[in-house]
Amino acid sequence: MQAVTEFLNKNQARFVDELCAYLRFPSVSAQAQHRGDLQQCAEWITNHCRQIGLQARLCPTAGSPVVVATTRGRHSSSRDRRSHFLVYGHYDVQPPEPFELWKSPPFEPRIAGRSLFARGSADNKGQHMAHVNAVEAYLKTRTPLPCDITFVIEGEEEVGSKSLGTFLREHRDELECDAVVISDTGMPDLEHPALTYSLRGIAAFEIILRGPSRDLHSGIFGGSLDNPAMALCQLLAKLRDRNGRVAIPGFYDDVQPLSAYERKQFARLPFTVRQYRELLGVPALFGEKGYTPFEQRSGRPTFEINGLTSGYQGEGSKTIVPAWARAKITTRLVPNQRPARIIQLVSKYLKKLCPPTVRMEIEAGHGADPYLVSPTSAEARAALRALKAAFGHDPVLMREGGSIPIVNEFKKVLKADTLLLGLALPDDDPHAPNEKFNLDCFQKGQFMSAHLWRELAQR
Ligand code: BES
Ligand code: MN
Repeated sequence: MQAVTEFLNKNQARFVDELCAYLRFPSVSAQAQHRGDLQQCAEWITNHCRQIGLQARLCPTAGSPVVVATTRGRHSSSRDRRSHFLVYGHYDVQPPEPFELWKSPPFEPRIAGRSLFARGSADNKGQHMAHVNAVEAYLKTRTPLPCDITFVIEGEEEVGSKSLGTFLREHRDELECDAVVISDTGMPDLEHPALTYSLRGIAAFEIILRGPSRDLHSGIFGGSLDNPAMALCQLLAKLRDRNGRVAIPGFYDDVQPLSAYERKQFARLPFTVRQYRELLGVPALFGEKGYTPFEQRSGRPTFEINGLTSGYQGEGSKTIVPAWARAKITTRLVPNQRPARIIQLVSKYLKKLCPPTVRMEIEAGHGADPYLVSPTSAEARAALRALKAAFGHDPVLMREGGSIPIVNEFKKVLKADTLLLGLALPDDDPHAPNEKFNLDCFQKGQFMSAHLWRELAQR
């Protein structure tokens, strides 16, 4: 183990350089123009895995390729009784727009103090590279790995992991494992490393209201017909009450309440309303009454408008009654809500509310179940020991509000639980301009990973 930690310490500068090379690929999965960049990025990480001594290959799918890189090779085979763990990560990133708000270009990594700024630095290239670096340290120092490790790094996480589910089913035998390890969530701060035991699910859809057959002159016709933008606003306004609850009948029926034990644990997390308000840049917080902000954003379901479009968006004014209005919605779900059921409830209620003056269409989008796993399993306890060893502080148990749809497939297809060991800090700004990753999190993440394999193998 000493040789491993020494190797990690000695190679920090190179690891940062390599991460920067990885971050230079604009691997934006949502935009068709970046298909080639996704491919090149996948090739780069495959080659990197090969160079450090893994058996690595690039597997084409209907969408972006999946990278599989394993320590299983000449010295061990899948027939061995050794434990086997998967490390999952994603090389695709969110769109960088709006460009003008970046202090330096999103795909030209910049280091300031201990912050590495680039799209994809925290979400997720930096986080899974910490594990790759740790495994390299074992291989290069010829320290025997106490278990087998296979990396599965995909390129469609940010658009719903459409191809990976099929891929898991097709490679079920090869990917059979004791547990999956994912660093793609957050931690409160460097003194509070975290094991996340729950993620929210998601149900995405769009609501379209159509009025007149074309945009109309609002002076000539306005007042004699409904305005689709106004009708949509009125509809949406009925979906949240003044206590911050989602006002859709049946929405909370399947929600499993937070236990007193969990709420007590959450209350221990470092948190002040003032700091949090300043982090978000809002004049005041708002959320479901009776719950703390931490509970609201991780343990309670939500209904969010992600985009709202209608009428004229260009320069100056244009006097029209728009022909249509459209809202992009996602609801975040908690155990035991199910996306299909939620879409059903929302559609039913919207149809009831919709006035006869407009036509409504509802288009269902992607969905994922919420995730909840025991934080007291032997694997979870091994992970807590590795976190403590690397960060030098007692880890906390937490829930996260974001979603990683594939964790449910790992459970269904591979029957494997996932350990969520996030390395991002609250101000890393994933999905936003000036995304960053903290280099101390990067380094300590490598140590955590190095300890993890020993702790997991001995569990
Ligand atoms: N890494 C995030 C998920 C995440 C972030 C979970 C922070 C918990 C805390 C992931 O890359 C992501 O953004 N997922 C999407 C999934 C969606 C597109 C289906 C999300 O949560 O919006
Ligand atoms: Mn993301």
